[in-house]
Amino acid sequence: MKSICILSGTDRPGSMALRIAKYIQPHYQEKGVQARIVSLEEFPIHEAAGGRYGKNLPEIEAFRNQVIDADGIVMIVPEYNGSFPGILKLFIDYLPFPEAFSKKPIAFIGEAAGAFGALRAVEQMQMVCSYRNAHVYPERVFLQRVKKNFDEEQGIKDEKVAELLHNQIRGFLEFISQVSEYESV
Ligand SMILES: Cc1cc2nc3c(=O)[nH]c(=O)nc-3n(C[C@H](O)[C@H](O)[C@H](O)COP(=O)(O)O)c2cc1C
Repeated sequence: MKSICILSGTDRPGSMALRIAKYIQPHYQEKGVQARIVSLEEFPIHEAAGGRYGKNLPEIEAFRNQVIDADGIVMIVPEYNGSFPGILKLFIDYLPFPEAFSKKPIAFIGEAAGAFGALRAVEQMQMVCSYRNAHVYPERVFLQRVKKNFDEEQGIKDEKVAELLHNQIRGFLEFISQVSEYESV
């Protein structure tokens, strides 16, 4: 069975990112995929305090393995100050180099209070993931004015954006299979 990790890209309590992660999880599960949510709210930040790069960090290792052991990652990226949240970069800075994201399929959902739906944040994160040799899935989804346009009961209220999300889910699973075939030859 294919496994994906839905990474909620912020540690903000009550975030829309985590709500969106919970909303999309059953959509993956109904396609026969094991879909695990990992929230950066749970990132053991105390272990990173003081810049402990390259040290033995068992809690961070256990946390990051939940993400990098998956066949694919769906990253939910909020926009903070015209970029992605700092905790998301900290998480990436504590991944093993260079292998962690290497050849890993990654899809992106941007969400923001503003009108651009975290376009800037996602594009910046795509650059980081490409630098780390991920296979970036090109069809992104952006939720603008997220509190108005999304809630748990109704999901995504804009029909076109909802359709983009469903296309992303279907397409990303095909992409994971194709990447795996390509990498095995
Ligand atoms: C530190 C911080 C910075 C933010 N900067 C932006 C921003 O640059 N552009 C924007 O549209 N929204 C910004 N927001 C609002 C978020 O987009 C909003 O909280 C939205 O719900 C997505 O974040 P969430 O997943 O934490 O809920 C910011 C929020 C925080 C907490």
